[in-house]
Amino acid sequence: MIESTGKQFYLQTADSSYWFRVTKFGHLEHVYYGPALPVQDMEPLALKRTAQWGSTVAYDQDDLNYSLDIVPLEWSGTGYGDYRFAPAELVMPDGSYSQDFTYVRHVVTPGYHPMKTLPSAYGTNGECDTLTITLRDNATRVELDLIYTVFEQVNVIARRVVLRNASSGEVVINRLLSGMVDLPGRGLNLITFDGGWIKETHKHVRPLEYGFNVNSSTTGASSNRHNPGFLLAEQTATESCGLVYGFNLVYSGNHLGIAELHNNDLARVAVGINDHCFNWRLDPGESFETPQMVMTVSDQGFNGASHNFHDFINQNIVRGGWKNKERPVLFNNWEAHFFDFDQSKLEELASSAKKLGAELFVLDDGWFGKRDADNAGLGDYSVNLKKLPKGLAGFGKYLNKIGLDFGLWFEPEMVNEDSDLFRKHPEWASLVPGRRHAQGRNQYVLDLTNPAVQDYLIKSVSQIIDENHIQYVKWDMNRHISDAFSPLLENQGEFFHRYMIGLYRVLKQIFITRPHVLLESCSSGGNRFDLGMLCFSPQVWSSDDTDPVERLAIQGGLSYLYPPSTMGAHVSAAPHQQTLRLTPMSTRFNVAAFGVLGYELDLKYVGRLEQKEIKDQIEFYKRHRRTLQFGRFSRIDNPKPNKVCWQTAARDGHEVISGFFQTQATAAEGYDTLKVLDLNPKARYELSTRPQPLYLARFGGLIKHVLPVELAPDGVIMRTAGKLYKMDDAVEHYQGTGALFAQGVMLANQFIGSHYNAETRLLGDFGSSLYVTELKK
Ligand code: GLA
Repeated sequence: MIESTGKQFYLQTADSSYWFRVTKFGHLEHVYYGPALPVQDMEPLALKRTAQWGSTVAYDQDDLNYSLDIVPLEWSGTGYGDYRFAPAELVMPDGSYSQDFTYVRHVVTPGYHPMKTLPSAYGTNGECDTLTITLRDNATRVELDLIYTVFEQVNVIARRVVLRNASSGEVVINRLLSGMVDLPGRGLNLITFDGGWIKETHKHVRPLEYGFNVNSSTTGASSNRHNPGFLLAEQTATESCGLVYGFNLVYSGNHLGIAELHNNDLARVAVGINDHCFNWRLDPGESFETPQMVMTVSDQGFNGASHNFHDFINQNIVRGGWKNKERPVLFNNWEAHFFDFDQSKLEELASSAKKLGAELFVLDDGWFGKRDADNAGLGDYSVNLKKLPKGLAGFGKYLNKIGLDFGLWFEPEMVNEDSDLFRKHPEWASLVPGRRHAQGRNQYVLDLTNPAVQDYLIKSVSQIIDENHIQYVKWDMNRHISDAFSPLLENQGEFFHRYMIGLYRVLKQIFITRPHVLLESCSSGGNRFDLGMLCFSPQVWSSDDTDPVERLAIQGGLSYLYPPSTMGAHVSAAPHQQTLRLTPMSTRFNVAAFGVLGYELDLKYVGRLEQKEIKDQIEFYKRHRRTLQFGRFSRIDNPKPNKVCWQTAARDGHEVISGFFQTQATAAEGYDTLKVLDLNPKARYELSTRPQPLYLARFGGLIKHVLPVELAPDGVIMRTAGKLYKMDDAVEHYQGTGALFAQGVMLANQFIGSHYNAETRLLGDFGSSLYVTELKK
């Protein structure tokens, strides 16, 4: 709901309020962002200006206390005394860098305003309202629209700006962010989600100190280095209480997030397109639209902010046929085969996968052109008939016959030098003439600013989808952009942004017109996990790292910003390709279950008992799929550093699934508790452990303690027994009210160096269990 009384604006969501007003000089003064308050006079919450700050420049001689450097603002210019980070750097038609945007008019409309060049959050007229405030730089008549869309139920406000050149001279944009706000900044932590390949979105917390704190990407994508989403939180905030602000950007290219703590104790937050190599010229009459930034706030701790973002993404970002629709359990052949496969290997894997419960088979890299390694074939769309003599259609028919849908990998934005496409169109690769060229993974980036390249991709990918009855596409993008250049652009400062506009056009043409196709975006794993891609791709491959211990950090980090329904999560073989760590099959599943489940391993080398375990896992996942993918996901505070606890609660309240993970065993572990939240305090529930096997091999020589006779631990008898027999991990059952479970159940002892029995939990390093807490009828 948006209320405006005179020149005061009240943006109200179910649980938050965002208030600002127009000052006597026409600037937009930010007043409040926090837990919901009834609409009333905002003066008590406004920053006072009863004295003149030293070393400040007065905006007007009539009021020396009014310096733009100390006013909390919704938008700030340059050249009038605000020396904090400026969201825009413009060369104005008068040749100066000065800009002073002041209020002209505003309008409130139901619903949202779709964008011309970029994807945005969307919603029905009842779900959201939009406030457009027009500001003008009176000296030049250049105008700026500040557009706020308020998503009431999910407590999110999306913001963007449109710069309109209503003057008669050129405007040069060196930087134009999507929005900014000045918040009370003392005692806050800045939380960012950073990393690199196979270690994406690790959470980093640091106190917000004076000066600039920057969260940025210049790789051409939103990047695995710094996810565009970040949080500011009270230093005392926990997962379930305390004030937390969240920010993100609906954009997949270079991004910039700034949190600047000023000596007046205000923190300026600004988010938008990175100004790295960015330059855009606006002729008279032209305009420029920025991507949308999104904000949320909660006084219910980190989980409160995450719940808002999760609901917003499921309702107002993800669209098409897969919105709120349960996602299939897939088998992907990448870690099983890499490039070394043929039709019979694929059929063998697919038929075993089907027997274990798979619903979709994904043929990954290597099916086209001369693609036997990563140095050839990208750009070509002809099927490799040596590997697939019956073509894609033949393999697809086989899959459909055994009851599996067909999914296919593409990397459309790239080209290898050794490809028919590059031989025919070398000018389509983004390369700077006269300079040496840099390759990444032996490939160049295609010039997606070029409409001919866009059209080639739209036609090639669409044709393969349609001709082969493809139900799922994995869209990969495996290198950072270098050599940013297009022969078609007069101003190369437009390259990075025009690349994104081109990419979004391609994705829209292929996928918005085929809503039945499930798109999973990938970029060497999570190198492009952002709200822009999620507008087309309901799920994203979170990381090439399938080691569950690493995934606790990766999926855990992602979970602050994105819901489980968006995170591709696979069970793979151990020792893991990425870390050499040996983890139990149970933990690999228990972590992947908090995402969109898949498997990525060669079943030929998986024994009978483990195959049965996989079958049971998939059955469990399907039974609880709605809860696991679309339930309310929370991280549970646990004071022990070697524990991670997650849970997801069914929307209808009938169950909560909890995960208890031990990253590293410690000797003689004390007690372990499991708190189950989001239950009705008065209703009665039963909590049960999900049964899971323990394999004899895990215990090596220790097995002698439970055997009546002495056997060599790695002898033939034990190895044979290990293939045929397993032990069962401890299973616990408890009953009680929701209020009781919220206090934390005391779980059974862990193995503490004394003897083994069936009631003792045997976690060791990397052990874990899932628990189901069900409402009693
Ligand atoms: C990237 C992806 C992997 C796989 C390979 C194929 O690394 O992240 O999942 O698809 O490419 O080359």
